[in-house]
Amino acid sequence: MEVTAIYPGTFDPMTLGHIDVALRAGEMFDRLIIAVAESPGKKPYFSLEERMDIANRIMADHDAVTIAPFTGLLVDFAQKKEATVIVRGLRAVSDFDYEVQIAGMNRKLAPGIETVFIAASQDYTFLSSSIVREIESHNGDISEFVHPLVLDAFAEKRNG
Ligand code: COA
Repeated sequence: MEVTAIYPGTFDPMTLGHIDVALRAGEMFDRLIIAVAESPGKKPYFSLEERMDIANRIMADHDAVTIAPFTGLLVDFAQKKEATVIVRGLRAVSDFDYEVQIAGMNRKLAPGIETVFIAASQDYTFLSSSIVREIESHNGDISEFVHPLVLDAFAEKRNG
Protein backbone atom coordinates (compact mmCIF):
# COMPACT_ATOMS: atom_id res chain seq x y z
CA MET A 1 0.00 0.00 0.00
CA GLU A 2 1.33 3.42 -0.93
CA VAL A 3 1.58 5.88 1.92
CA THR A 4 0.98 9.60 1.61
CA ALA A 5 2.34 11.78 4.39
CA ILE A 6 1.63 15.41 5.20
CA TYR A 7 4.25 17.79 6.56
CA PRO A 8 2.31 20.83 7.83
CA GLY A 9 3.56 24.20 8.95
CA THR A 10 3.32 27.92 8.39
CA PHE A 11 6.73 28.03 6.68
CA ASP A 12 7.12 31.80 7.14
CA PRO A 13 9.61 31.30 5.61
CA MET A 14 10.76 27.73 4.96
CA THR A 15 14.18 27.23 6.60
CA LEU A 16 16.96 24.69 6.05
CA GLY A 17 15.56 22.92 9.13
CA HIS A 18 12.21 22.45 7.38
CA ILE A 19 13.93 21.28 4.19
CA ASP A 20 15.96 18.75 6.18
CA VAL A 21 12.81 17.28 7.76
CA ALA A 22 10.90 17.32 4.45
CA LEU A 23 13.63 15.55 2.49
CA ARG A 24 14.13 12.92 5.17
CA ALA A 25 10.35 12.34 5.33
CA GLY A 26 10.30 12.18 1.53
CA GLU A 27 12.64 9.18 1.74
CA MET A 28 10.31 7.39 4.13
CA PHE A 29 6.98 7.68 2.33
CA ASP A 30 5.70 7.27 -1.23
CA ARG A 31 4.35 10.81 -1.38
CA LEU A 32 4.90 13.84 0.82
CA ILE A 33 2.59 16.82 0.77
CA ILE A 34 4.03 19.95 2.33
CA ALA A 35 0.89 21.61 3.65
CA VAL A 36 1.34 25.35 3.97
CA ALA A 37 -1.05 26.67 6.61
CA GLU A 38 -2.67 30.02 6.08
CA SER A 39 -2.17 30.65 9.85
CA PRO A 40 -3.97 34.03 9.97
CA GLY A 41 -3.49 34.08 13.75
CA LYS A 42 0.28 34.30 13.23
CA LYS A 43 -0.04 37.27 10.85
CA PRO A 44 2.61 35.83 8.52
CA TYR A 45 5.23 38.12 7.00
CA PHE A 46 5.05 36.30 3.64
CA SER A 47 1.62 35.81 2.07
CA LEU A 48 0.30 32.29 1.59
CA GLU A 49 1.03 32.59 -2.15
CA GLU A 50 4.60 33.71 -1.47
CA ARG A 51 5.21 30.89 1.04
CA MET A 52 3.77 28.36 -1.43
CA ASP A 53 5.84 29.75 -4.29
CA ILE A 54 9.07 29.54 -2.24
CA ALA A 55 8.31 25.94 -1.19
CA ASN A 56 7.35 24.94 -4.75
CA ARG A 57 10.58 26.27 -6.18
CA ILE A 58 12.76 24.77 -3.45
CA MET A 59 11.18 21.33 -3.90
CA ALA A 60 10.96 21.48 -7.71
CA ASP A 61 13.44 18.62 -8.20
CA HIS A 62 11.70 16.27 -5.79
CA ASP A 63 8.97 14.49 -7.72
CA ALA A 64 7.43 12.76 -4.71
CA VAL A 65 7.00 16.07 -2.88
CA THR A 66 4.09 18.40 -3.61
CA ILE A 67 3.02 21.66 -2.00
CA ALA A 68 -0.56 22.50 -1.07
CA PRO A 69 -2.23 25.26 0.94
CA PHE A 70 -4.55 24.47 3.81
CA THR A 71 -6.93 26.15 6.20
CA GLY A 72 -9.07 24.59 8.89
CA LEU A 73 -8.29 21.36 10.70
CA LEU A 74 -5.17 19.50 9.67
CA VAL A 75 -6.83 16.09 10.00
CA ASP A 76 -9.65 17.16 7.64
CA PHE A 77 -7.07 18.21 5.09
CA ALA A 78 -5.14 14.96 5.57
CA GLN A 79 -8.28 12.90 5.05
CA LYS A 80 -9.17 14.85 1.92
CA LYS A 81 -5.72 14.05 0.54
CA GLU A 82 -6.00 10.40 1.68
CA ALA A 83 -2.87 10.84 3.79
CA THR A 84 -2.38 8.48 6.71
CA VAL A 85 0.70 10.07 8.26
CA ILE A 86 1.42 13.53 9.69
CA VAL A 87 5.11 14.39 9.93
CA ARG A 88 6.39 16.78 12.58
CA GLY A 89 9.94 17.86 13.29
CA LEU A 90 11.18 17.85 16.88
CA ARG A 91 13.96 20.30 17.59
CA ALA A 92 14.33 20.14 21.35
CA VAL A 93 12.69 18.79 24.48
CA SER A 94 10.76 22.06 24.62
CA ASP A 95 8.85 21.04 21.46
CA PHE A 96 7.87 17.72 22.97
CA ASP A 97 4.94 18.50 25.30
CA TYR A 98 3.13 20.63 22.76
CA GLU A 99 3.72 18.21 19.90
CA VAL A 100 2.55 15.20 21.89
CA GLN A 101 -0.59 17.08 22.92
CA ILE A 102 -1.42 18.01 19.32
CA ALA A 103 -0.59 14.50 18.08
CA GLY A 104 -2.89 13.06 20.74
CA MET A 105 -5.73 15.36 19.78
CA ASN A 106 -5.27 14.70 16.07
CA ARG A 107 -5.34 10.99 16.80
CA LYS A 108 -8.56 11.42 18.76
CA LEU A 109 -10.10 13.37 15.89
CA ALA A 110 -8.87 10.95 13.22
CA PRO A 111 -7.74 7.58 14.63
CA GLY A 112 -6.53 6.37 11.24
CA ILE A 113 -3.85 9.03 10.99
CA GLU A 114 -0.50 8.53 12.73
CA THR A 115 1.89 11.32 13.67
CA VAL A 116 5.54 10.55 13.02
CA PHE A 117 8.25 12.69 14.62
CA ILE A 118 11.56 13.34 12.93
CA ALA A 119 14.38 14.63 15.11
CA ALA A 120 15.84 17.82 13.66
CA SER A 121 19.48 17.57 12.64
CA GLN A 122 21.91 18.96 15.19
CA ASP A 123 22.65 22.03 13.06
CA TYR A 124 19.04 23.18 13.08
CA THR A 125 17.85 22.59 16.64
CA PHE A 126 18.01 26.32 17.43
CA LEU A 127 16.34 27.46 14.22
CA SER A 128 12.85 28.89 13.76
CA SER A 129 11.17 31.01 11.13
CA SER A 130 10.65 33.93 13.50
CA ILE A 131 14.34 33.93 14.49
CA VAL A 132 15.26 34.04 10.81
CA ARG A 133 12.85 36.96 10.24
CA GLU A 134 14.23 38.74 13.30
CA ILE A 135 17.87 38.44 12.16
CA GLU A 136 16.95 39.52 8.62
CA SER A 137 15.01 42.54 9.86
CA HIS A 138 18.22 43.77 11.49
CA ASN A 139 20.21 43.18 8.31
CA GLY A 140 21.90 40.10 9.78
CA ASP A 141 23.24 37.29 7.63
CA ILE A 142 20.68 34.46 7.32
CA SER A 143 22.37 32.67 4.43
CA GLU A 144 23.43 29.79 6.71
CA PHE A 145 19.84 29.11 7.70
CA VAL A 146 17.78 29.39 4.51
CA HIS A 147 17.83 28.38 0.84
CA PRO A 148 19.11 31.12 -1.53
CA LEU A 149 15.56 31.47 -2.92
CA VAL A 150 14.46 32.68 0.52
CA LEU A 151 17.18 35.34 0.47
CA ASP A 152 15.77 36.49 -2.88
CA ALA A 153 12.24 36.51 -1.48
CA PHE A 154 13.29 38.72 1.45
CA ALA A 155 15.12 41.08 -0.93
CA GLU A 156 12.09 41.28 -3.24
CA LYS A 157 9.76 41.95 -0.33
CA ARG A 158 12.02 44.71 1.00
CA ASN A 159 12.46 46.40 -2.35
CA GLY A 160 8.74 46.13 -3.08
N1 COA B 1 13.39 23.66 11.46
C1 COA B 1 13.26 24.97 11.66
N2 COA B 1 12.18 25.53 12.23
C2 COA B 1 11.20 24.72 12.62
C3 COA B 1 11.26 23.34 12.45
C4 COA B 1 12.43 22.80 11.85
N3 COA B 1 12.59 21.50 11.66
N4 COA B 1 10.14 22.81 12.95
C5 COA B 1 9.40 23.81 13.40
N5 COA B 1 10.04 24.98 13.21
C6 COA B 1 9.61 26.31 13.61
C7 COA B 1 8.61 26.93 12.69
O1 COA B 1 9.24 27.63 11.67
C8 COA B 1 7.86 27.84 13.61
O2 COA B 1 8.60 29.01 13.78
P1 COA B 1 7.92 30.36 14.29
O3 COA B 1 6.90 30.03 15.32
O4 COA B 1 9.10 31.05 14.81
O5 COA B 1 7.34 30.99 13.08
C9 COA B 1 7.90 27.14 14.96
O6 COA B 1 8.95 26.21 14.85
C10 COA B 1 6.64 26.43 15.29
O7 COA B 1 6.43 25.52 14.26
P2 COA B 1 5.12 24.71 14.11
O8 COA B 1 4.68 24.10 15.36
O9 COA B 1 5.36 23.83 12.95
O10 COA B 1 4.05 25.81 13.83
P3 COA B 1 3.56 26.24 12.47
O11 COA B 1 2.89 27.54 12.65
O12 COA B 1 4.66 26.20 11.46
O13 COA B 1 2.48 25.09 12.10
C11 COA B 1 0.30 24.04 12.21
C12 COA B 1 1.43 24.76 12.97
C13 COA B 1 -0.23 24.89 11.10
C14 COA B 1 0.82 22.74 11.65
C15 COA B 1 -0.80 23.74 13.26
O14 COA B 1 -1.13 24.93 13.91
C16 COA B 1 -2.06 23.17 12.64
O15 COA B 1 -2.11 21.99 12.33
N6 COA B 1 -3.07 24.02 12.46
C17 COA B 1 -4.35 23.64 11.86
C18 COA B 1 -5.45 23.55 12.90
C19 COA B 1 -5.34 22.23 13.60
O16 COA B 1 -5.64 21.18 13.04
N7 COA B 1 -4.87 22.29 14.85
C20 COA B 1 -4.63 21.12 15.64
C21 COA B 1 -5.88 20.74 16.32
S1 COA B 1 -5.52 19.62 17.60
